[in-house]
Amino acid sequence: MTMHIIHVVGARPNFIKVAPVLRALASRPGVKQTLVHTGQHYDANMSDVFFQQLGIPAPDVNLSVGSGTHAKQTAEIMTRFEPVVIERTPDMVLVYGDVNSTVAAALVCAKLGVRVGHVEAGLRSFDRAMPEEINRLVTDQLADLLFTPSQDGDINLMREGIAVEKIHFVGNVMIDSLVHLLPEALRRGNRDLPERYALVTLHRPSNVDDSEVLRGILQSLLEVSHDLAVVFPAHPRTRQRIAEFGLNADQLRLLEPLPYVEFLALQRTATVVITDSGGIQEETTYLGVPCLTLRDNTERPVTVSAGTNVLVGQDSQKLGSELTKILDGKGKKGTIPPLWDGHAGDRIAEILIGQ
Ligand code: UD1
Repeated sequence: MTMHIIHVVGARPNFIKVAPVLRALASRPGVKQTLVHTGQHYDANMSDVFFQQLGIPAPDVNLSVGSGTHAKQTAEIMTRFEPVVIERTPDMVLVYGDVNSTVAAALVCAKLGVRVGHVEAGLRSFDRAMPEEINRLVTDQLADLLFTPSQDGDINLMREGIAVEKIHFVGNVMIDSLVHLLPEALRRGNRDLPERYALVTLHRPSNVDDSEVLRGILQSLLEVSHDLAVVFPAHPRTRQRIAEFGLNADQLRLLEPLPYVEFLALQRTATVVITDSGGIQEETTYLGVPCLTLRDNTERPVTVSAGTNVLVGQDSQKLGSELTKILDGKGKKGTIPPLWDGHAGDRIAEILIGQ
């Protein structure tokens, strides 16, 4: 009997997470896979290039929802995804991470009585001002299978009353993609870069949507640029805000969003990465590169307890003092968390086959 699995992805980090699961399931007999792209991210440099580099086949269905308020985007995904599920009658729908596409697809399936698997379950920042935290909480309540990247995830889920049989600690699928494409990143290397540089990414609404907060962060980065070059591939939201607020980012090397392999190559040789992304906290921990996170909390605490991550919030003094430590060679060294080994996708496939 064939098992039909629909994967739902929509935003940049989803693409990195789905690739190893698709690959692991492709080698199993009796599995039919359908890939649905919601269209939450649609620019070529936020979507198509990730499909190419990660070897993801073209989506079978593109819902083309585009941008909108949270309610609009979530509702649009639900409205367009529901007929796909009804028509294609999957045995299981897999959702990834914590974006609006994740929760929207999980809600549709829960109402239709279709089983849902959540890849990257159990992460909690305990900060409900973050839209992703709402998405995580709701998705995990609805999911039938919960695949966690770290053991803190299992503890969070059990505390929320999720039955232990549903929870599977499988490791980190984002690291699967990193391990897979690191040789390619090493092969390409970096050109036109100074030996020491800070790599910056910034896109959280809490950091970029308020003009005074964003002005403060850019000021701190300007101070960083006195010590070393600042390379800053900017998310479209951030670029829009810098222009809209009339802010000055001239001292920073502002770039368009980069493809996966190019960004990985830049991370690997960075002196320090300064970010508010979730996935980059994990990638730097794996690579052993110091990471300063511009947030007060993280849903990925293992990157702080075991890895190279330090939370600096929006405190420019703390950013400065942590940067000094790193430049003096006294940055955190860190270790790689359990099961961040490039085989999380295989473990997920194994569990799905056993269902
Ligand atoms: C989304 C996720 C966030 C994730 C991030 C990764 C939610 C709630 N947020 O945030 O968790 O870390 O993706 O990048 O799902 N835009 C473009 N081109 C695109 C996509 C977006 O120009 O291809 C612009 C639009 O102006 C849009 C804005 O970016 O309004 C924000 O996009 P959206 O998908 O709403 O959220 P992200 O900030 O990308």
